[in-house]
Amino acid sequence: MIRFDILTLFPGMFESPFQSSLLQKAREKNLVEIHIHDIRAFAADKHRMADDYPYGGGGGMVMKVEPIAKALESIGPLESADGVLRVLLTPQGELFSQEKARELSRRRRLVLVCGHYEGVDERIREHLIDSEISIGDYVLTGGELAAMVVVDAVSRYIPGVLGNEESAASDSFSEGLLEYPQYTRPAVFGEWVVPEVLLSGNHARIERWRRKESLRRTLRRRPDLLARSRLSEEDKILLKEIEAEGKTVQSPESRVTSSQEEDGKAGLD
Ligand SMILES: C[S@@+](CC[C@H](N)C(=O)[O-])C[C@H]1O[C@@H](n2cnc3c(N)ncnc32)[C@H](O)[C@@H]1O
Repeated sequence: MIRFDILTLFPGMFESPFQSSLLQKAREKNLVEIHIHDIRAFAADKHRMADDYPYGGGGGMVMKVEPIAKALESIGPLESADGVLRVLLTPQGELFSQEKARELSRRRRLVLVCGHYEGVDERIREHLIDSEISIGDYVLTGGELAAMVVVDAVSRYIPGVLGNEESAASDSFSEGLLEYPQYTRPAVFGEWVVPEVLLSGNHARIERWRRKESLRRTLRRRPDLLARSRLSEEDKILLKEIEAEGKTVQSPESRVTSSQEEDGKAGLD
């Protein structure tokens, strides 16, 4: 079970994403608890101003320190509480990854602070936050979409949320590789056929094929990941086979690989 507290100026943005699909089920099963806090409710003045002009001039508005400090206070004594992490969503933070999602899922509680406008008063970063996360090298209007991404990716690691824990283990990035191609019924759709090996019932062959396709796909699309992953002796053999097949220089758009041809199907990347 994990608890998320999200501090935002736009609570309405979270209504639909957290009321659908796996996250809704996870909440119903009490595996994931999500509390949304409206920062504006903690603004002291009568206009409920949570942002103000930047000192030193310049365009845009900056989110004020007091409403966020008070919102954090209202959640409880967080500093000393074991397992709690206060995270600011910001394009300047550590790049979010599958590894980071897994690491965060070990926390009991995550507090996610969503910035907006030009961002937040620097004193929030300095004194109220433990960690800063970016979901990518681009700038969003606000931290809300980033918080949703973090909640979704982290929740997948909470036992019971996925139903089938194996799927998280084989997901792309979990082992430092992209996942192998997946197929479902029908086995034949027009001229497009599922690789024969997947219908063979031979689990050892299927595992080998999946591992090889996972390596092939990572080599083609994300060689940076492959260079960082720990490869077994069997992986090295499979990579040699892939190289020998001489097809790895094809562009990612290329739809048919030699092994897929050998397996008797056209690839569906
Ligand atoms: C328009 S952005 C502010 C960007 C800020 N002026 C800067 O250059 O770093 C407003 C808010 O959106 C959120 N945000 C924008 N891009 C993000 C990203 N890539 N990852 C996480 N949060 C992001 C942050 O909470 C940020 O405070």
